[in-house]
Amino acid sequence: MRQPLVAGNWKMNGSKADAAALINGINAEMNKITKTEVAVCVPFPYLYLAEQLLADTSIRYGAQDVSREDSGAFTGQVSAAMLLDFGCHYAIVGHSERRMFNAESDVIVARKFMQAKKLGLTPIFCVGESLEEREGGQTETVVARQLDALLELGGIDALANGVIAYEPVWAIGTGVTATPEQAQEVHAFLRHRVAANSAEVATGLRILYGGSMKPSNAQELIRQPDIDGGLIGGAALKASDFLAICHASEALA
Ligand code: 13P
Repeated sequence: MRQPLVAGNWKMNGSKADAAALINGINAEMNKITKTEVAVCVPFPYLYLAEQLLADTSIRYGAQDVSREDSGAFTGQVSAAMLLDFGCHYAIVGHSERRMFNAESDVIVARKFMQAKKLGLTPIFCVGESLEEREGGQTETVVARQLDALLELGGIDALANGVIAYEPVWAIGTGVTATPEQAQEVHAFLRHRVAANSAEVATGLRILYGGSMKPSNAQELIRQPDIDGGLIGGAALKASDFLAICHASEALA
């Protein structure tokens, strides 16, 4: 069975004091969460703090992006080796906000994924369609294109024990959540597409849902057979909300 994963994506929010309070607030209840893996993806400047506060805890942490290059003259970028240096386990790649605001193409995202993986991080690979694409009946075409770019570059082994996050752009930060049926449909589509290459990899692949997941809807989403947890934005900024989602997952695990 796949272990559920609830991961917070803090995006560009908070201060050092906020980050410390949030980490400590989550950690205070971790003794009650034993079956769900819990992770936080913090802004780069707070990775050192995460390393200090999470060293002897069961909470994993990571970054929200990673460079596709090893090192060198890439002003402003952060390498996978640097993330590992701070004890990161995860790096989000291909979040729709980076695809949109930083013009990251499917190929760039795939290269970031492979770079993170090569160095020993676990990439959280985000896919998802815009509202226009959904209304145009393009959802499967879009997520298939995003997934295939990775499979073309890295082969099916890239996704062995991997993590994908399905994040419909129209549900991110909008308060509008995909219905459990809408989300399940896309998750099953993604898993089948991976299974066409390897049934074993598809079975081990964790597919998280992201997009206005909150305490009130987490359980009905995570209950779906192909939804293995959540990538949480807004609700990850309040320890009690984030923990409520972890508990919802825990109740099903
Ligand atoms: P919200 O939970 O704020 O909709 O954000 C989801 C997300 O983008 C997580 O990566």
